[in-house]
Amino acid sequence: MSHKKNIKVYNLCVVGAGHVGLVAAACFSELGHKVICVDNDKKRVSALRKEIMPFYEPQMAPLVKKNLKRGNLVFSTSLDEGIKKSDVIFVAVGTPPQADGSADLTSVENVARAVAKNLDGDYKLVISKSTVPVQTGQRAKETIYRYRKNNAEFDVASNPEFLREGKAVYDFFYPDRIVIGVETKRAETILKEIYATIDAPVIVTDINTAELIKHASNSFLATKISFINAVSRVCDLAGADVSKVSLAMGLDKRIGKDFLDAGVGYGGFCFPKDLEAFIYISKKLGYDFRLLKEAQNINEEQRSYFVEKIKEHLWILKGKKIAVLGLSFKPDTDDMRFAPAIDIIAALLKEGAILSLYDPQARDEAQELFKDKRIKFSKNSQEALRGVDCVCFLTEWEEFKNLDFKKAKKAMAYPLVADGRNMFQRDELKALGFEYIGMGR
Ligand code: UDX
Repeated sequence: MSHKKNIKVYNLCVVGAGHVGLVAAACFSELGHKVICVDNDKKRVSALRKEIMPFYEPQMAPLVKKNLKRGNLVFSTSLDEGIKKSDVIFVAVGTPPQADGSADLTSVENVARAVAKNLDGDYKLVISKSTVPVQTGQRAKETIYRYRKNNAEFDVASNPEFLREGKAVYDFFYPDRIVIGVETKRAETILKEIYATIDAPVIVTDINTAELIKHASNSFLATKISFINAVSRVCDLAGADVSKVSLAMGLDKRIGKDFLDAGVGYGGFCFPKDLEAFIYISKKLGYDFRLLKEAQNINEEQRSYFVEKIKEHLWILKGKKIAVLGLSFKPDTDDMRFAPAIDIIAALLKEGAILSLYDPQARDEAQELFKDKRIKFSKNSQEALRGVDCVCFLTEWEEFKNLDFKKAKKAMAYPLVADGRNMFQRDELKALGFEYIGMGR
């Protein structure tokens, strides 16, 4: 990694040891900064001190271990300590969705109040890394003013995180851009120095704009997925192949090939909640973001449409055995939050199917989620396939691409493949004697 050049070392506090905070803390310490990563979950912190990771993220564990050893990274449960010992505080706390779609910003306010309490005379820079609705930075600033006990100087800033789960460490070191939302030159200089050794365009804006960039980017990507999923529905009706449509569309540089894969749709903790929050904040500001509502509808429909397709082939699902391979919301993560698998499994159970589930990483998460007696968890793909009438692929894990389909066919009661991620070649499976369901092919 190309970050070994000289760097001005900062004392950083990263608040939150979740998917954003922990990766950022590990990567900042790898850049050479001195990092205290604070989380109020005592179990998580004591596990991290023993080098036990709270979730699976490729390349993260070695960075945490290395920087714990060389003293660049420490974990703490004390927010006060973290703030006191640091010049710069990155806020990477959760902003979960509430029933009305708005983001719950309680944790952000708590950190702002803790900063106010611990301002001890030296300047501090407080930067939001969490995805927050536009104008949150302003609110955080007002909160710190309201509760500070002296005139100690501080700035607030926004530095949204664009990293993808499963590729988070790579994305941190090789971002497409670094967005910095600031109000002062001092804050801008510090942020630029923190990232000095990362080679990427830096976009400097005001705080509101930076906050909006994050919501707009995620909403656009989700809309792109919903667009191609809508096209896939037309492809199904017209007898066309959406894979070729997206290949040809994607070669147009103005469109780009990424995020044009049709399937059971997007999940995860970012897109669903960020769309909700962006729709909510737009409405609050006076704009009805109908386009995003439709992107959400299309995404939800893909899940029920997938189950409908299986029903069309198997007719009655009651008592039928179905294997579901791939449970996490995407490959290379054990994260099941808002995963398409959740709705699809619920729908299959509602129809009376008996399920065998397998995922290379998300088994523990899935076992927590699904307690139904009609569900069996399998140790591997082949075990899950034994005696089933259909196998559904919901996440495009690499190991599924190498599945021995000849062996699979012998194991299955009926050779139906429902490919929710369009990861297989229809003709190859047909040649092996399978029936194939794709999405828009
Ligand atoms: C996303 C953004 O990409 C990232 O920049 C932001 O910081 C956090 O949210 P992430 O949620 O980790 O990252 O996953 P991503 O790789 O973007 O995929 C999101 C979902 O979209 C997955 O469920 C994936 O399967 C689905 N997807 C993606 C599609 O259905 N089709 C595609 O073409 C691409």
